[in-house]
Amino acid sequence: MWGGRFTAEPDDVMQAINASIDVDRRLAEEDIAGSLAHAQMLAAVGVLTEADAAAIASGLNQVLDEIRTGRFVFSRALEDIHMNVESRLKDIIGEPAGRLHTARSRNDQVATDFRLWVKRACAAREQQITALIGVLVEGADRWADAVTPGFTHLQTAQPVTFGHHLLAYAEMLDRDRGRFADAAARMDECPLGAAALAGTGFPIDRDQTARALGFAAPMANSLDAVSARDFALEALAAIAICSQHLSRLAEEIVIWSSAQFGFVRLSDAWSTGSSIMPQKRNPDAAELVRAKTGRATGALVGLLTVMKGLPLAYSKDMQEDKSQVFEAFDALDLSLQAMTGMMATAEPDLARMRAAAAHGFSTATDLADWLVREANVPFREAHHITGRAVKAAEDCGCALWDLPLDTLQTIDARITGAVFGVLTVDASVASRTSYGGTAPVRVREQVARWRSRLAAATGDA
Ligand code: ARG
Repeated sequence: MWGGRFTAEPDDVMQAINASIDVDRRLAEEDIAGSLAHAQMLAAVGVLTEADAAAIASGLNQVLDEIRTGRFVFSRALEDIHMNVESRLKDIIGEPAGRLHTARSRNDQVATDFRLWVKRACAAREQQITALIGVLVEGADRWADAVTPGFTHLQTAQPVTFGHHLLAYAEMLDRDRGRFADAAARMDECPLGAAALAGTGFPIDRDQTARALGFAAPMANSLDAVSARDFALEALAAIAICSQHLSRLAEEIVIWSSAQFGFVRLSDAWSTGSSIMPQKRNPDAAELVRAKTGRATGALVGLLTVMKGLPLAYSKDMQEDKSQVFEAFDALDLSLQAMTGMMATAEPDLARMRAAAAHGFSTATDLADWLVREANVPFREAHHITGRAVKAAEDCGCALWDLPLDTLQTIDARITGAVFGVLTVDASVASRTSYGGTAPVRVREQVARWRSRLAAATGDA
């Protein structure tokens, strides 16, 4: 491509370190779309003849077909996807191929291709997240009043409903979805036409190419257009945060499906056996979702490090952007699919969850709240009285509600038999009706809200 100036071939290792085709061949569709839009625009402004533009378009469509059907031969000597496509176009249509690169550079070309790819990938992950939220919402409806222990410090804290627990993840995932949407909206500007770095003297129409490629507008500064990668960083940040949410749910699945907890049984399709221990059902997919967070975090830190301190405008360092972004999007794609599959088919063991919810004096706060409400005891004092009741229950090896009334009354004379009404796990969750609370009525309200939001999002509202 630059044979005019060079006489010797590149060293083999130079070629190895320089070539990006093994990675950026994934941009083939976007690259050809960009070239089609560029050629059409050049013809519209009179830089290309209609005949040349038509030859270029039909040649590019043939290249696209060859790539889609796997007949295209990618060449490392041609470095990257841009030169592979252009070189094949020359084989097919001859001389007009050489006119396509007028008023552009690989710098604005790659920035455009990559933005298009990342924008589409953000939209695809958004849809996958919405699907996972849908599964969680259906679970929340089914288990709106299934009592399970709520933990702090992984110590039994207060009973909650399993539906409420699932909807906590729906909320997190919805913010993740919003982060992808925000990032996609911010990257919705087209770099094409910035050329190498300074713009061009040809009378190009950047609004036309931006529109043709589905961008809201052209980028306003050519130096920024060829050297900005914050769109990719923002997407990676969204991926890293989403992966981190998935890893928390994955960790809970690992804990819940252990023999010691036994809260959830994963379906056969989402479990693996052990080659030596026949009794095992391992939550491998959950463990791998948990682990893939490492790739997402690594990709974010990796690209931040590549971009740090690069002077304007383009530097070849930026070629190292794509592998990390592709890998992170791929990992999240698999993780979201796996999590959706696991959660859609996992069966909670409601009896075990309920029994565990009653352990550890989980309704002690309800006793304290009762004293505040019914006997006008200040909360700090009620906390102290309840502590003594817990101690008494511990000493007799029984639950709070199994303590005889006279034992409770020796602890505090204001306690009456009515207290037993609030000490069960069902009474406890039913009482937590504050907005955002775990009470089944609140969970059902949230399920209804989610359903109408999801219906609106998927367009069948
Ligand atoms: N393969 C290159 C990349 O991905 C394309 C841009 C090359 N530009 C250049 N001036 N060498 O970044």
